Amino acid sequence: MRITLGVTGGVAAYKAAELVRRLQQDAFTVQVVMTRGAREFITPLTFAALSGQKVITDLFAESSGEANLESAIEHIAVAQRTDLLLVAPATADILAKFARGIADDFLTTLYLASTAPVVVAPAMNVNMWNHAATQENVEMLRARGVKIVDPDEGYLACGVTGAGRLAGQEAIVAAVHEALRAVRDLAGEKVLVTAGPTRENVDPVRYLTNRSSGKMGYAVAEAAARRGAHVILVSGPTSLEAPVGVERVDVRSAEEMHRAVVEKVAECSIAIFAAAVADYRPADTNAQKIKRNNEAMSISLEPTPDILASVARNKGERLIVGFAAETDHVAENARKKLAAKNADLMVANDVTAEGAGFDHDTNIVTLFARDGRDLALPRMSKSEVAQHILDEVVRLRSTSRTAHRSAV
Ligand code: PMT
Repeated sequence: MRITLGVTGGVAAYKAAELVRRLQQDAFTVQVVMTRGAREFITPLTFAALSGQKVITDLFAESSGEANLESAIEHIAVAQRTDLLLVAPATADILAKFARGIADDFLTTLYLASTAPVVVAPAMNVNMWNHAATQENVEMLRARGVKIVDPDEGYLACGVTGAGRLAGQEAIVAAVHEALRAVRDLAGEKVLVTAGPTRENVDPVRYLTNRSSGKMGYAVAEAAARRGAHVILVSGPTSLEAPVGVERVDVRSAEEMHRAVVEKVAECSIAIFAAAVADYRPADTNAQKIKRNNEAMSISLEPTPDILASVARNKGERLIVGFAAETDHVAENARKKLAAKNADLMVANDVTAEGAGFDHDTNIVTLFARDGRDLALPRMSKSEVAQHILDEVVRLRSTSRTAHRSAV
C-alpha cells in the first residue's frame, strides 16, 4: 500500500523522518511531499534516503530553467497512486488551506485531487491550536471525513506547556490503519478471480501455453482482499506468491480451471476472469513422448470450454467481469465479447501496446460496462488498474441493487 506523507513546516518535521521508517515496518511504501516551510527545518535528502523515493517539493518543479508539464500534472498521478494521504506534522496554515480548498503548492493541490482517505496530525503552538480559527478549520475537516490525530499535551518548542505537540508515532500509525480499514467496500463479498496461463499437454514433456505471468489477476485478487472481500484465486501455473489472506486454488489446464471455477463460483457474488485460458487444446494427448523424425507433423486441436461464458450463462445476481486480450479493433471486439459472454464489465487491453498486457507490471485498459459507460485509463501499474476495476464493480453492484430495490 502507498502512503503519501505530507511534511509541513514545524519543529516536529524531524519526527516525520522516524515516521517514514515506522510506516515502512508495516510494509507501506512512503512517498514524501514537503512544503516550502518543511524544507526550512529538514532537507529533502533525509526523506529521499529513508523512503528510497524521490521527494516531491514543488508544484512546478524547474527543469533547466523551464517549468515542465510532467511535474505540473504529477499531483494527479500521485493522487491516483495514493492509498492514503497522511500529513504529519500539520501546521495551522495547512489546516486552513485544506479547510478552505486553497491549492497553491503540491501538497494542497494533491489534497484536492486525491480521493484517498486523509489523516492529519497537527503540531503547533498551544495558542495557535486553541485559536477559534484553527478549531473551526479542524471541525470542518473532521466533518468531511478527515481523521485528525489530536496533538499531545506537553512542553512545546516555543517554551510553553499545553496541547500542540505532535501525537506519538504509534497513535499516528494506528490512525492510518483505522482509516485504511474504513476503505473496505467489498467486505462481506466473496470474489472469485482467475489468473495466469493454462498449459495444455501435447505429450508428457510438451504443452501449449501463452505468455501470461498472472500479474494482472494477482493484482485484482490482492486489491479485492484489501478492500475486505474473501478472495478465491484460481491460478494457472505462475511464479507468483498468493497475496496475503487469499485462498488459492492451483490448476494447470483449461479443463482443470473450468472444474475449479464451477466448484467455487456458486459461493461467490463476484467473478473476475483475468486468466489467459487456452482456447484450444490437443484433441489427443500422447501417453509417450512424441519421437522426432524428419516428417512434417500437425497436431489436431479442439476448443476448450469457455469458462467465463459458461458461468455467465446462469449468473443470476452474480457480477461477472471479463478481460479481452486484443491486438486490433480493441473497442469493437471488447464490446462484442461483453455482449456475447453475458458479462457486466469487460476490461480490454491491447496486448501489443508498449507497457500493456502480458508480463508487464503496467497495463493500459479500457473498461466497458454493461450500462454503456466506457472508461479509458492511461498506462498505470496493474495494482492501480485493479483498483479501477473494483471501483467499477462496486458502482455496478450499487446501481443494480438500487434498480432491484425500486422494482420490489
Ligand atoms: O497475466 P499477465 O502477464 O499479467 O497478463 C495479463 C493478461 C494480458 C493475461 C490480462 O490482462 C488479460 O487480458 N486476460 C485475458 C486473456 C484472454 O484470454 O483474453 P480473451 O479475450 O481470449 O478471453 C476473453 C475472456 O474469456 C477472458 O476473461 C478469459 O479469461 C475468458 N476465457 C477465455 C477462454 C476460455 N476458454 N475461457 C475463458 O474463461
